[in-house]
Amino acid sequence: MDTAVRADFKEMTEASQQDWELIAEHARNFWEGLAGRILDHLRLLDGDFGGFPVDRLQHSLQTATLAHQDGRDEEYVVCALLHDIGDTLGSLNHADLAATMLQPFVSEKNYWMLKHHGIFQGYYFFHYLGKDRNARDQYKDHEYFNYTAEFCHKYDQKAFDKDFTPMSLEEFTPMVERVFAQPKNSLYL
Ligand SMILES: [Fe+2]
Ligand SMILES: [Fe+2]
Repeated sequence: MDTAVRADFKEMTEASQQDWELIAEHARNFWEGLAGRILDHLRLLDGDFGGFPVDRLQHSLQTATLAHQDGRDEEYVVCALLHDIGDTLGSLNHADLAATMLQPFVSEKNYWMLKHHGIFQGYYFFHYLGKDRNARDQYKDHEYFNYTAEFCHKYDQKAFDKDFTPMSLEEFTPMVERVFAQPKNSLYL
């Protein structure tokens, strides 16, 4: 497709059916590149230690590797890989970014886990910062409480081991591509 072909309106009120068919075709091509753009963004975490024993890319790879080795399904492993991708742009609400990016492609359960993993992970360190480590208990009756607590306990809080060599980003790439190839819900579908 010729990417130089463009619609010719100045205001949306002037657009035609033909314009929107053209734009929709461009959008489908753009969506196909989403997994690649996300992986490029994940690479920004490389070398970003923030005082931790391993950098944020290593932490992401370790989290995903632990989940994979524990037999988790592909969607879960991809959530584990991308759970902290929001650290660069959402430094004060990183969990929301991963959740929002993955929402069209994952179950409601995995979306909830991503969105709330920050407060659940706080169980392991909030008390060192003068905060309540049990802040997650506000969700104690939620159906996904145990599911999210398990993610943090088994994978997220364990993934800071500088002596552990995780699977590579290249090994996870086909998994990311498969998950992002199958949107489940979106306003634009
Ligand atoms: Fe996180
Ligand atoms: Fe994490």
